[in-house]
Amino acid sequence: MTPSPFSAVPGLLHGADYNPDQWLDRPDILARDIELMKKARVNCVSLGIFSWSALEPEEGVFRFEWMDRVIDSLYDAGISVDLATPSGARPAWLAEKYPEVLRVDREGRRHAFGGRHNHCLTSPVYRQKTALIDGMLAKRYGGHPGVVLWHIGNEFSGDCYCPLCKNAFREWLKKKYGTVEELNRRWWTSFWSHTYSSFDQVDPPSPLGETSIPSMQVDWRRFSTDQCASFIRNERKALRQYAPQPATINMMWSFLDYDYAVLAREVDFVSWDCYPRLKSGNNLMVLSEACMNHDYMRSLKDAPFLMMESTPSKVNWHTVNQLKRPGMHLTSSLLSVFCGSEGVMYFQWRKGRGGSEAFHGAVVGHDGREDTRVFRDVAHTGEMLEKLSSLKGAPVDPARVLILWDQQSRWCACFAQTGLGGRMDPLPVLQSHYLALFKKGVRVDLKGMDADLKSYDLVVCPETFQFREGFAERLRDYVRSGGHLFHTCFGGVVDGDDLCWLGPTPHGLTDVLGVRDPDLDALYPEEEVCIRLEDGQCFRVDQICEYPEEVTAPRILGVYDSDFMKGTPAFTYAPFGAGGAWYLAARPEQKGLDAVYGRILEALGIRGVWPRPLPEGVAALGRGQMVLVANLSGADASLGLEFPLTDLLTGAPVPDPLPANACAVIRKEDLKHA
Ligand code: GAL
Repeated sequence: MTPSPFSAVPGLLHGADYNPDQWLDRPDILARDIELMKKARVNCVSLGIFSWSALEPEEGVFRFEWMDRVIDSLYDAGISVDLATPSGARPAWLAEKYPEVLRVDREGRRHAFGGRHNHCLTSPVYRQKTALIDGMLAKRYGGHPGVVLWHIGNEFSGDCYCPLCKNAFREWLKKKYGTVEELNRRWWTSFWSHTYSSFDQVDPPSPLGETSIPSMQVDWRRFSTDQCASFIRNERKALRQYAPQPATINMMWSFLDYDYAVLAREVDFVSWDCYPRLKSGNNLMVLSEACMNHDYMRSLKDAPFLMMESTPSKVNWHTVNQLKRPGMHLTSSLLSVFCGSEGVMYFQWRKGRGGSEAFHGAVVGHDGREDTRVFRDVAHTGEMLEKLSSLKGAPVDPARVLILWDQQSRWCACFAQTGLGGRMDPLPVLQSHYLALFKKGVRVDLKGMDADLKSYDLVVCPETFQFREGFAERLRDYVRSGGHLFHTCFGGVVDGDDLCWLGPTPHGLTDVLGVRDPDLDALYPEEEVCIRLEDGQCFRVDQICEYPEEVTAPRILGVYDSDFMKGTPAFTYAPFGAGGAWYLAARPEQKGLDAVYGRILEALGIRGVWPRPLPEGVAALGRGQMVLVANLSGADASLGLEFPLTDLLTGAPVPDPLPANACAVIRKEDLKHA
């Protein structure tokens, strides 16, 4: 067994992004930081994420003494360091001397110095300069006992259209397709006479040029992902010569630019930054989305991950930057832990005085005090994490349900010009499926098309538009040998090249589902199409639905109840081999999907972790020997406990009703008798 990347820190991690380089003229503040960190039970900080100009103020002039002092003082105080490479933002001298490091946008404009996360990842100069400073950091701190993790760059994102990237794209295409004829064939360039006679004619997709070849757009995303992966590899190589500590990159929320399944291979553990749009009142949906992302991050490596950033109070970039309501900080933090996070980390430790994030929430505010609501919330969360330290390394309850979430398929759907006119991103559909299961306390994994299906009782394909070669066969085998599939509309349409499969659709599954050639329909907001289930329950279709040409599935569980489709099967079940498959022809409103899942889970005997139906707005998640129950409903929620259960967080009985935003942790053993 490989050792856990988090083993150097005793207990679950608790800490924040720490930017002492903003306070180098205030040693009193730096000393106070350590004192306050101890009080807040911080045991790890992410250091130096944007420190390049403090580390190398002029080209080739390095200043590490300040960082030596910070790392040593943290170490003396028992606080570990997740040390960053500074590649997320570059110093002005670098941009001035080497303009090739600046990104060129889709309209061909080279940007001026400023901002962050906006360098050309292809630029040899940028790669050399980052490798140089990374190597120096690794040499100096790779052997420091206080440095336990590496944080490569920050939130990699975006693409660049400079001549270097254009060339690299052409080389990437040559490698993939071999000949330009093959590229033409697989991009379907005979359409509108867009046939290329040389790779040199291919420019990246741009609003000023080519946007009418979806296969090209998908390839551009794949290329940009590969450039980012090779940039990360370059940084890792520089670290690895001297620094053995595990490394990560911090990923983002439901992110479209790159395929995280590819980037996850470049790191030792997955981490991500979680900023749900919390509000007063009911947060079930918002936090279900956060948990969906946590579950995706865990699934990327089938291993515990780290919530690398979250806010202790509010952010400054939502449209409404609301403070966390009382109770919510602990509850939202523990949800991450019960989805498999090995800790709770914040952005950021101390508010800066200026810059664009001066008003972003931080553990320590401009007043520098510890007797604040936010500081108390953070310290309390630290204390609770210490109580839950036995969860470190513990697996989350195994998922019996897999939701197929494949970034490449998502790209193909996003670029498809059909249905809702450029708004076919399946993300809202995914969220709605996840929510239906979250409400029932059912654990889910989220993986791409390469996932091993056999350990799951149910595989859900929510608008899985692309079926890459071999996927349909794997699904068939899975069902034939006893698995169950839940397939929805807008699935199995295009192949690995984003070209439409010829022949009946959903590709390769028509006999498994007992459904052939559904035709996609889209609805105006004022139009109402309903589906009626066998028991008479009716629900509305949300925006898209499809009309199958032929249905041979033996069990018709629901039919369209309106418009020209009235009476057409819309929810079906077909046994196949030792298993079977459900088909749902539409995106339904949430209550419809909840009802559909009710039937599917019942048929498969899949139960949630809570011993009875969860009260409205309450979530429950299991990890190790414990269950977290969290009231996200915005109001008191009666749990209907028949006898008292002990809350491991307080040692007192779990309050029933559970107040709004509160949570409790219960021993699984105790729950058996509840
Ligand atoms: C993250 C970023 C941090 C900080 C934070 C603010 O996306 O990694 O550096 O900007 O957002 O919420």
